[in-house]
Amino acid sequence: APATQKQVRVWVDGCFDMVHFGHANALRQAKLMGDILVVALHSNADITAHKGLPVTTEEERYKMIRAIKWVDEVIEDIPCYTSVELLEKHNCDICAHGDDFAANADGVDSYAAVKTAGKYREYKRTEGVSTTDLLQRLLQMTQQHLCANEVNRYEGRSYPIMSLQQRVLSVLACKYVSDVIIGAPYTVTESMLDNLKVDYVLHGQTPVYPNKDGSDPYEAPKTRGIYRTIESGSALTTDVILQRIYEHRLEY
Ligand code: CTP
Repeated sequence: APATQKQVRVWVDGCFDMVHFGHANALRQAKLMGDILVVALHSNADITAHKGLPVTTEEERYKMIRAIKWVDEVIEDIPCYTSVELLEKHNCDICAHGDDFAANADGVDSYAAVKTAGKYREYKRTEGVSTTDLLQRLLQMTQQHLCANEVNRYEGRSYPIMSLQQRVLSVLACKYVSDVIIGAPYTVTESMLDNLKVDYVLHGQTPVYPNKDGSDPYEAPKTRGIYRTIESGSALTTDVILQRIYEHRLEY
């Protein structure tokens, strides 16, 4: 486009609770509708009023959406009804949403105003994944493995929650990821380090579970002196999510 032409700013709003690759695929399609992708997130208070309590906090949802490849800007604390004034305030030209009906708590179409104004666009909703579905799987897991006094006993069982393909799509949607090795072994081997020309092997502050024979999966990089631990800036883990769901299970 010529430099004088205004860039098209695309607006997508939503809850984005427990961000999954369905959300990422929505944002990928929305980005293709223009030049700049602006994602507006609802506050936890608003979500609770319209759909019920979210599992992740506002700060967690903001961070996760900022880490998605196709996202240019994030706007926090946006109401559940999308007005034309709101779009204009943020200099957005069009509003995009999945091809499912989105209604407010009072049954009104959340996008009625932007539809009337001709500013509404639709992308395909990704089948086979949703926050509701993930929540159901997690709830089942808490029922199978948690008893009131032993909430920590599920460690290492019934994981993972998503299939390998689903997990690959999730990490590929992350802005900072260049490449994914599908089905990488638990132990980082000498030959992997050589073949992939690895300079550093990093792990967060969470504990590393040893192999069944007791050996350290990071022995090779540690011996080479290329193993480092990093600070993620977040205490969120799958265990923490399970614990929250368990604590609030009667509200879902
Ligand atoms: N979305 C999508 N495909 C999915 C799930 C969500 O395209 N499998 C889209 C929605 O259409 C919406 C955006 O992602 O445009 C944000 O969705 P959100 O507000 O979080 O709510 P839901 O549509 O209810 O998504 P989920 O069921 O996963 O909570």
